[in-house]
Amino acid sequence: MKFKIFVVDDDRHYGRMLSYRLEKNLDNEVHSFSSGEAALERIDEEPDLVLLDIMMPGIGGLETLKRIRADHPTVPVVMVSAQGVIDVAVESMQLGAYDYITKGQDDLLKLDTVVKNVREKSEMEKELMQLRGVVKERFSIGGLVGESPAMKGVHRTIEKTLRGDLTVAIQGESGTGKELVAKAIHYGSNRKDGPFVVVNCAAIPRELMESEFFGHEKGSFTGAHARKIGKFEQANAGTIFLDEIGELDLDLQAKLLRALQSFEIVRVGGNETIRFDARVISATNKDVEQMIRKGTFREDLYYRLFQFPVALPPLRARGKDIILLANHFLKNYIDGHPEFAAKRLTGDARRAVLEYSWPGNVRELKSAIERAILVSDSDDISPDDLMLNRGSGISPWTERAGVAVGERIESDRAPVSSSNGADELAVSLGEDGEILSLDEIKRQAIERAYRVCEGNVDRAAVELGIGRATMYRLLKKYKLMA
Ligand SMILES: Nc1ncnc2c1ncn2[C@@H]1O[C@H](COP(=O)(O)OP(=O)(O)OP(=O)(O)O)[C@@H](O)[C@H]1O
Ligand SMILES: [Mg+2]
Repeated sequence: MKFKIFVVDDDRHYGRMLSYRLEKNLDNEVHSFSSGEAALERIDEEPDLVLLDIMMPGIGGLETLKRIRADHPTVPVVMVSAQGVIDVAVESMQLGAYDYITKGQDDLLKLDTVVKNVREKSEMEKELMQLRGVVKERFSIGGLVGESPAMKGVHRTIEKTLRGDLTVAIQGESGTGKELVAKAIHYGSNRKDGPFVVVNCAAIPRELMESEFFGHEKGSFTGAHARKIGKFEQANAGTIFLDEIGELDLDLQAKLLRALQSFEIVRVGGNETIRFDARVISATNKDVEQMIRKGTFREDLYYRLFQFPVALPPLRARGKDIILLANHFLKNYIDGHPEFAAKRLTGDARRAVLEYSWPGNVRELKSAIERAILVSDSDDISPDDLMLNRGSGISPWTERAGVAVGERIESDRAPVSSSNGADELAVSLGEDGEILSLDEIKRQAIERAYRVCEGNVDRAAVELGIGRATMYRLLKKYKLMA
């Protein structure tokens, strides 16, 4: 970027001489003004340096300086003083001028030094600001709460994705924060001033998908009354977020692949190729590798989209982050609804939150907390207020018990469906239909997890969404471990 300098002097010859000298350095972009008023009209452009004559008709140099300082205090101003008015130059320094040069004396030599200094200073400040930005992001990347080792890993990956424009693919169960991560990447990147455009591949009818992606020309199909600009074009200079990418059919996968290879698209019914410049981030809760094996996802597209894979862990594998997040949502809600300022989670409620398996992940936690604030009768939020489906602390596991450990849950619905009826009943009934005590259900869940995880306590604890110490304690209690 060029170094923008305003030269303000009513003496045209002198102004031109300064400009001439400054323009010898091709990195400088010089604009000349013959009065303070004229310069102030364009001060919003935030020049990198203003050279300002003191003695001018109109408001003069000092007043111009004051006005610049008032509205744009970071713009450096160097005063240009005639010989004999040095005391005014000194006064101007007290008003915040960066320095001054004296006409016909030290001006040309000092000019070079002053410009060099201002330049170095502004570059240093820019670096410092960038550094501060990085430090701020380290602690809370784009509002992503979490300090568990699993989430720290995610933070590190996000930081790496900011270094370039590679494609990013975010994988995680429903409600784990995939969209939030995509936004964190967009707003953390140098595309942040461009648009963040979302396409939900599951929400749009198959036959309209291509036009949604690439746009269409007027009359290209029945109902195409006007030209439409597709999401890829809309996302120019920004980021396009392809959500639920596992829902694309093979035909569109081929078209998407072509677009990603050439960075060119053709609107439906058009014949002009149009270049686009958008960073591509995708997300899915499906096991894409498995889809490739089944032949429902193209392997070549997979490599295009997954240059940077980000695996978001389920909430139950994030340990104490669950509490951090619960408090975060509590605080956020209270910030917007000060009448609930005294609400807090009791120790029991915190334990319940930690021990629950959160099949709907962060989204489920957020709504449980917000609901609990509203349903609790006192300032203490009790476990009951959280209305966690008691059976389902176990049922997600029960559902997955038939599934090999480590295999991903295929659909959004799987973990939640347990709450509607028959399954849930089956969980709380014994083999001959008798009602089981909660303790017995717990025992069975622990035993099963321990068995399916082949005696790996850590993994069993993670799967159950409880702490390691709790797992050991329960294994001993139920005499499953010596
Ligand atoms: N680490 C986090 N810190 C703070 N808020 C979070 C975090 N993760 C998720 N959230 C919040 O949880 C909710 C769900 O997140 P998001 O929509 O990004 O999930 P998702 O994975 O895209 O879900 P789905 O698969 O259902 O589309 C949002 O309100 C989001 O702001
Ligand atoms: Mg989403």
